[in-house]
Amino acid sequence: MIRACIFDLDGVLVDTAHYHFLAWKRLANELGFELTPADNEQLKGVSRMQSLDIVLQLGGITATEHEKEVLANKKNAWFNDFVDRMMPEEIFPGVKQLIRELKAKGVKVGLASSSKNAKTVIQLLGIQNEFDAIVDGTMIVNSKPHPEIFLLTAEKLGIVPEECLVFEDAEAGVEAALAAGMKCVGVGSPLQLNRAHEVVAKTADFKITELAKL
Ligand code: G6P
Ligand code: MG
Repeated sequence: MIRACIFDLDGVLVDTAHYHFLAWKRLANELGFELTPADNEQLKGVSRMQSLDIVLQLGGITATEHEKEVLANKKNAWFNDFVDRMMPEEIFPGVKQLIRELKAKGVKVGLASSSKNAKTVIQLLGIQNEFDAIVDGTMIVNSKPHPEIFLLTAEKLGIVPEECLVFEDAEAGVEAALAAGMKCVGVGSPLQLNRAHEVVAKTADFKITELAKL
């Protein structure tokens, strides 16, 4: 029985995944190469520094630790330029309603995002008080596909992993949920997220009646 739903943030509750992509693409362009949406799939759900390593590898670029820090800070500043201009209306349609329906059914609701900007984003969306537990990139050592973030969220929620359902748009996130022993709804393309128990095109397409079938 599912007693808790754990939501990823970027690409699941709001389209900040696109802002991350635009910021990484700008960095790649500045370094002299192109970053495609397909390349970007590898970055989803992965921490800032790990994402940078992947980007540099794609461009065939080596950098010192200090240079990496400068590049990561640049990318984060560009990402935050988008976030600063974000409107509460940017939350994906139907997401608030889904969270409310889950809570009304007595299902606990958690947030598990590898992003160190997660708290700022949910505050801007005005949903910071909707969650029974929040775990972000500042609270974990291992980023997805490691299960740490989901296990910590489940622990905070007081629900065993087997009774948790994760909503994820990233391949690394789906793997992390499975490694945690949780059920997973993929948000996006079934081709990309074929390891999830169920895939929906948009978060709000998930029907609460499915909970009993998972
Ligand atoms: C999420 C996103 C990734 C992002 C990571 C770190 O997992 O899916 O694209 O790189 O968070 O985000 P941050 O805001 O800390 O740089
Ligand atoms: Mg995501």
